[in-house]
Amino acid sequence: MDITLLGIESSCDDTSAAVLRNGILLSNVIAGQEVHRKYSGVIPELASRAHQQNIVPVVDTALQEAGVTIDDIDGIAVTRGPGLLGSLVVGVSFAKGLSLAKNIPLIEVNHLNGHVLSHFIKVPEKNTDHPEFPFLCLLVSGGNSQIILAKSHKDMEIVGETIDDAAGEAFDKCAKIMGLPYPGGPVIDRLAKEGDPARFKFAKPQVERLNYSFSGLKTSFLYFLKKEMAADPEFIEKNKNDLCASLQATIIEILMNKLIKAARQYNIEQIALGGGVSANSGLREAVVREGYKHGWKTFIPEFRFTTDNAAMIAMAGYYKYLDNDFSSLDTSPEARNNF
Ligand code: KG4
Repeated sequence: MDITLLGIESSCDDTSAAVLRNGILLSNVIAGQEVHRKYSGVIPELASRAHQQNIVPVVDTALQEAGVTIDDIDGIAVTRGPGLLGSLVVGVSFAKGLSLAKNIPLIEVNHLNGHVLSHFIKVPEKNTDHPEFPFLCLLVSGGNSQIILAKSHKDMEIVGETIDDAAGEAFDKCAKIMGLPYPGGPVIDRLAKEGDPARFKFAKPQVERLNYSFSGLKTSFLYFLKKEMAADPEFIEKNKNDLCASLQATIIEILMNKLIKAARQYNIEQIALGGGVSANSGLREAVVREGYKHGWKTFIPEFRFTTDNAAMIAMAGYYKYLDNDFSSLDTSPEARNNF
């Protein structure tokens, strides 16, 4: 019997819906939110409002593009958290309403598990290889920086995480300091290609175990630029490419050092990447390069599955469906990763 699932994702600033049949992706629609651009960061209240405007047309389009109707849907997988509470409320409420109205089982999904399981999405006419359990996933986005030990589809352990800012925040905040547009990650990535990564040296954090910290880097970057700008007000403009290349190299080195340590500690040679920052060309190259060195098998996601998307939520929902792991209508959104 075919299992056709509708996935819904609204944890941050992307409203997304996807249709997946037997693990094969039929559609994946993502509506981004331009409204945050002028604030150089996501404004939670504006995100919730934009989700409310987007959710009905996004779900409608996902069903249409997949060539199905709501009556073909066997389960609704929705992100329960972690994420922005107001944003999650929109997706979860919509999913519950649809579940109740159409008598379709509801499946709550942990957003982080979704990112890890994005590597298992099957795309029609494409032979996609996926990691074998156990594997490590470096999950880096605007809200997350974790090393996750995936033991099975449902058993995942966070073995390292940031104690302050996420890696994406480091990119975005440092870009803002340089006067670059939001989101800063892709802009820094582009400018870094023309710059010298060894030109400037920035402080690297000393954090215990497999954890990360990025707020010190941002602060030292700010003070370094203040000092240089006092001597030469055009310092940023003149050195933009080298600043971006050096900053990006520092962030990648911080991420990779702990990932290598984790791989050693857990004796794992299957390494996957996930989250918005995994679109970074330098990080992708670094994972492949270190992979050769350490004998890893590496899994780099397609660009469309790096950022927040409902395809990965439907994928995680598919494994829960197979386990008969459904949710009651009492389920509520969770901002933190404590469920
Ligand atoms: O997963 P995502 O779409 O959602 C959030 O968690 O918000 O990740 C967005 C983050 C932003 O911080 C953005 O600057 C970063 O991913 N990002 C990048 C690149 N593309 C997106 N960072 C570095 N290089 C990129 N190419």
